[in-house]
Amino acid sequence: MPGKLKPFSEVMELTSTISRAGDFYPDECEAYYDLLSALPDKARVLEIGLRFGRSSSIVGQVAATKQFRYLAIDPFIHPPEARQAWIKMMDGIYPQYELLYQYSHQSLRQIIERRPFDLALIDGGHRYDDTMLDCHAVFPHSSTVCIHDYGSPIHPTVKKAVDDYMDATGRLTFTGIDVANTLAIYCRTAW
Ligand SMILES: C[S@@+](CC[C@H](N)C(=O)[O-])C[C@H]1O[C@@H](n2cnc3c(N)ncnc32)[C@H](O)[C@@H]1O
Repeated sequence: MPGKLKPFSEVMELTSTISRAGDFYPDECEAYYDLLSALPDKARVLEIGLRFGRSSSIVGQVAATKQFRYLAIDPFIHPPEARQAWIKMMDGIYPQYELLYQYSHQSLRQIIERRPFDLALIDGGHRYDDTMLDCHAVFPHSSTVCIHDYGSPIHPTVKKAVDDYMDATGRLTFTGIDVANTLAIYCRTAW
């Protein structure tokens, strides 16, 4: 039975125990929580790149109230134990997820079938080609897109790919509204 939306501080009681802060810094968690909390009930949410589920734990805790239709994608290659940890964690907070245990480029059919997404997170492969592919897979079908590690000195290819994608295709219909630490947030201005 859906209850009252948990405040951010309560959400972080679980989220801060998952993985390490660098996988999703607290200020990024808060920006992500704010976006998720503003979505309507039954909104469609997509996440590419899950690992142990720091970002997913925020989706799951908000979804427990808002009953999101949530598609999650990760091949869980490294570390392999992340898969069971993610499943156990999500089963405890929001078992109604759909998990694709594969790379995002193998998930294009399901992404098309489940579109449009109210909110999507790109945090999977961080190489230039991976990020560019995810931009092409996600932006055309989403109202709001978050990209993690945008501007991170460890992953300069993420910002390069997103900026190139935006320059080539996106700026007519998306505006970058915010960057919380390394979480870039793009909002659609027109379909
Ligand atoms: C940085 S971690 C994600 C962190 C997660 N969002 C969190 O908050 O804890 C990146 C994840 O992306 C996955 N990954 C790598 N390449 C991918 C791809 N092409 N498609 C989907 N997931 C991918 C990895 O297996 C890894 O679990």
